[in-house]
Amino acid sequence: MQIEIPVKIQNDLILKAARGQETGRTPVWLMRQAGRILPEYRKVRKSVSGFKELVQTPELACEVTLQPVDILGVDAAIIFSDILVIPEAMGLPYQLIENKGPFFEKTIKGLDDIDSLKIANPKEDLHYVLEAIRLTKTELDGKVPLIGFAGAPWTIFCYMLEGSGSKTFSKARKFLYTQHELAHQLLQKITDSTIAYLQAQFEAGADIVQLFDSWAGVLSPQLYKEFSLRYISQICDSIKNQHSANSIQRPVIVFAKGAYFSLKELGKLNCDVIGLDWNMDISESRKLIGETKTLQGNLDPAVLYADFQTIKNETKKMLNNFGPKQHIANLGHGVYPDTDVERVKCFIETIKEYEF
Ligand code: CP3
Repeated sequence: MQIEIPVKIQNDLILKAARGQETGRTPVWLMRQAGRILPEYRKVRKSVSGFKELVQTPELACEVTLQPVDILGVDAAIIFSDILVIPEAMGLPYQLIENKGPFFEKTIKGLDDIDSLKIANPKEDLHYVLEAIRLTKTELDGKVPLIGFAGAPWTIFCYMLEGSGSKTFSKARKFLYTQHELAHQLLQKITDSTIAYLQAQFEAGADIVQLFDSWAGVLSPQLYKEFSLRYISQICDSIKNQHSANSIQRPVIVFAKGAYFSLKELGKLNCDVIGLDWNMDISESRKLIGETKTLQGNLDPAVLYADFQTIKNETKKMLNNFGPKQHIANLGHGVYPDTDVERVKCFIETIKEYEF
């Protein structure tokens, strides 16, 4: 058997920041950096039948993953995929409807539906993501780290019950109150699938992973603890157990959008980095989370619609509020698709040039 020797990463600022080490300058990447903001992405996207073909073709997924590294100069690549590949791998296929968003033909209504779902087997059901990761690692050749990701169980649960996006996710929340036990059964199945998936991403070459809990903000603090944090915590613990077993670094970022009511609890997770959205006050969040974690974020993505001077000023204000250590710069959520690329570059350059 051929033993692969990992390539040394040249720009490892994000990994250093995640570990709390000195970085010299603040590293930066953007949620949704690979996507419609780039004309180069739109060109590749046009050449295929749909979003899913792009996600399921490793050569193309690799190509669009690399685009923002070269064009924007970010300090990490994030593998081009979607959080919805997990419900599909468990037995609920999704479609992405143009200009509308995700759509699931089958949704979860009760016990039979939950019983019919399988625990995802990443090597079989998600081989295309793992292949895209391997390919991207080869192409990156150690330039910057590669970020893997998955949805947090609660956010995946939302799509499985609702069948599409929603403002309130009231069907998913109704299920928590009316089918308490079944909700836990389903969340456990998603959690087991996600653990296997993230382990497989690390084995394929991901250097760090992020859990997206995009719909954290629709739950009350009490429900968030019971139906989301409990499962995020299982995922973090399981990755960190592997981490110590293999003595290989497996850093984890948790981004729970809208969970400002749970920052103290998030600070207790067995993870390295907590993502903040732009509703969260930076120094208040630092106090609640404590000193041990690195923070990520959190400029309002709408700032990138402003003039260049405003973008520079707001970015510098953000950097100052976080301080020179334990910070990975990012937006407070994904970059909006109609954002001007030059303004995105201005945000990134301001961070890279900033001196404390
Ligand atoms: O960040 C990156 O650059 C990597 C790629 C990435 C995508 N989706 C590509 C994508 C990541 C990390 C995601 C995560 C994701 N997907 C989340 C969590 C992050 C968040 O935004 O809160 C969620 C909730 C989804 C589900 C999803 N996928 C929605 C709601 C949509 C439609 C909305 C939209 O932005 O169009 C998608 C589609 C999607 N995922 C696109 C991209 C680039 C747009 C598809 C296209 O090219 O037409």
